[in-house]
Amino acid sequence: MPPQDVVKESSKRGQRAATLSAEETQAASARVKGQRPPKIKILAGNSNRPLAEAIATCLNLPLTRATVRRFADMEIFVEIQENVRGEDVFIIQSTSFPANDNLMELLIIIDALKRASAKRITAVLPYFGYARQDRKPGPRTPISAKLVANLIDKAGADRVLTLDLHAAQIQGFFDIPTDNLFAAPVMVRDLEERFKLDDLVVVSPDVGGVVRARGLAKRIGASLAIVDKRRERAGESEVMNVIGEVDGKRCILIDDIVDSGGTLCNAAEALLAKGAIEVMAYLTHGVLSGGAVSRIAASALKTLVITDSIQPTEAVRVASNIRVLSIAPLMAEAIKRTANEQSVSSLFY
Ligand code: R5P
Repeated sequence: MPPQDVVKESSKRGQRAATLSAEETQAASARVKGQRPPKIKILAGNSNRPLAEAIATCLNLPLTRATVRRFADMEIFVEIQENVRGEDVFIIQSTSFPANDNLMELLIIIDALKRASAKRITAVLPYFGYARQDRKPGPRTPISAKLVANLIDKAGADRVLTLDLHAAQIQGFFDIPTDNLFAAPVMVRDLEERFKLDDLVVVSPDVGGVVRARGLAKRIGASLAIVDKRRERAGESEVMNVIGEVDGKRCILIDDIVDSGGTLCNAAEALLAKGAIEVMAYLTHGVLSGGAVSRIAASALKTLVITDSIQPTEAVRVASNIRVLSIAPLMAEAIKRTANEQSVSSLFY
């Protein structure tokens, strides 16, 4: 049965990603100007081609020619259309919606590269799906994040490069070297450009996110507050307690994922009720499923800033209170350093 072109073809180099600003592309190109492009190959799955193209642009490299297509029964077929023997290959693929299709595509691309004798294969997952299933929430339940890590490892990846893992210890689920990048420097630059930093309070929308929020507060020298969601007694509705001083302040909510938007919208209301002047949110991964975009549009949040780790939908692109920052220059720099055996952690510390 011949494969059919029912899914976007991954072979042609497209336009620069809409989410990478002209200045960012220029700055990234200037950084690599005069330097030989690293001897690597960048391959894109179908989950986030604009980001893969933007990363390739930052590295002054073309995307490797490949097709990722479907058979009539929707099985995935991959064909790498140039020699990769002995090459250092980076596959850009977020395992975002549709998570199972995008994950399977990644595994099959890894297999194709392995059988084509690539020297080293790095799975670049700007968004690592299934990360929230990182422990057993009850008896007889899976730890799907560990299963997904095993699958990527077993398929033949030599390294993983990812961004703002839901929990840092997921790094340990992989038995291969795994670099977990942080979007914080990209967010800090945006905050510095837009706000007087001493007006700001960084807020974690739940107790689980305190370490992440404290990290950002430290970077910008702001104070920290926490929204503590509690159900005092079974059957009673949750109470939002705000720990920390927010009265008369501009609040910046920080989290890794916005999915339904419920956590953020509730936190924004609690902060305004405690006297905050306005509430903005900076999140790495805009999962934004179901009616999340309209919920955020109708909420008390002034602005939601996300990154392009997940390809923004049309609804996100046109939403008046959602802004997208590109992580392409950051990912490109980390890829270049990995290829050149240079420190990646020094990008952040
Ligand atoms: C939870 O631990 C995560 O960090 C996010 O707070 C959560 O996934 C957000 O989900 P939602 O937007 O559906 O409230």
